[in-house]
Amino acid sequence: MPGIVVVGTQWGDEGKGKVTDLIGSNVDYVVRYNGGANAGHTVVVGDESYALHLLPSGIVNPAVTPIIGNGTVVDPSVLLAEIADLTARGVDCSRLLISSQAQVTAPFHRVMDSLSEKALGNGKIGTTGRGIGPTYADKINRIGIRVQDLLDRDRLRAKIEACAAPKNIVLAHYGQPPIDVDAALEELASEGEQLRPYVTDTPLVINRALDAGKAVLFEGSQAVMLDIDHGTYPFVTSSNPIAGGACTGAGVGPTKITSVVGVAKAYTTRVGEGPFPTELNDETGVWLRERGHEFGVTTGRPRRTGWFDSVVVRYAAMVNGLTDVVLTKLDALSGLPTIRVCVAYDVTHADGTHERVADMPVDQQEFASAQPIYEELEGWNEPIGGASDFAELPAAAQAYVLRLEELIGCPIAAIGTGPKRANIIVRRQLI
Ligand code: IMP
Repeated sequence: MPGIVVVGTQWGDEGKGKVTDLIGSNVDYVVRYNGGANAGHTVVVGDESYALHLLPSGIVNPAVTPIIGNGTVVDPSVLLAEIADLTARGVDCSRLLISSQAQVTAPFHRVMDSLSEKALGNGKIGTTGRGIGPTYADKINRIGIRVQDLLDRDRLRAKIEACAAPKNIVLAHYGQPPIDVDAALEELASEGEQLRPYVTDTPLVINRALDAGKAVLFEGSQAVMLDIDHGTYPFVTSSNPIAGGACTGAGVGPTKITSVVGVAKAYTTRVGEGPFPTELNDETGVWLRERGHEFGVTTGRPRRTGWFDSVVVRYAAMVNGLTDVVLTKLDALSGLPTIRVCVAYDVTHADGTHERVADMPVDQQEFASAQPIYEELEGWNEPIGGASDFAELPAAAQAYVLRLEELIGCPIAAIGTGPKRANIIVRRQLI
């Protein structure tokens, strides 16, 4: 009963889609357990590239049952558009299962997301604008709409009314029109009918599969540094991307998880606001953005770029209990004379004293002011795009990988060397 969790170890966009797709050919189920349409997973199969937001990466593999778990927030309009798009491109989406307990992102959640960002002004989070925070807030406030509610018109109306009431007060405060309950009801009920065939009790399906010896891959969205508990709060998303989130977000016990694979980019990127100690606000940063095609899959926003931060990924190894790391986009670094890796920070405590730390400062202010301490490694000029054997890599690239492995304290099982499925060096099998 292998239960494998794939998580992001930085600020998202590490290339998890490629990794879940790689392992996905050996698993029976792929389960999304957190987040919603804020995610952007790119999967390349042959000459086709699929940008997925809500659908699990396993959707492109006909042998896999893709599941949208209870811990996700489902925007029916985005999901239906994604299903229609993939179906038109010849991908069979009929295997999809959606948790009846997953929360629904309604059009008014997107409105509340943008209002909340405006209200925060300079302190804004830089969200994807997909209504994620307001949907999870309603879940926690126990006024959320769940997928099962979409299937019962009377219940749905009552849920929309209860959900709309407190929002209307806020909307009035900002001079906005109230939520049109009838319009929301029509839209959501019609979408519910289209989603009905996919809706089921997914925790039961997943647990039965594990008990029957099937392999289940739990696909995390976003990443540890965007985790609502363990990330750079408040500049985080509103769910638990970390491995523990797979238990709540899929409905399985921790004893069912047999390995946790962390995906780390060979450098660092971040979208949205918030601290990023190794950020490069210079031409190297611009170069990395161009080389790595670092523009958001969901929003198209240019990503902030910087050096690899081993403090962050070591922290990710700890809070996720990583068993393996997959290092992605090593090919993007070819051509740099030297490459820097952050190994520690100089932090300033509240009393004004300074300290050099090698562990993540969980105090928000200390992290925001952390000065990275770098180790400089030799770069390489040879293009390594498409390499599939570790020995093929230039000596400096090998040394870079081995040093990262040492700093993270977890084996680097595979290395991504390009966007295609085959562009990967596998040093040890993940499943
Ligand atoms: P939200 O999830 O839309 O509320 O956005 C909260 C923060 O998480 C913002 O900084 C977003 O840029 C970031 N974020 C959300 N989803 C992703 C993702 O898939 N990749 C990278 N950053 C993300």
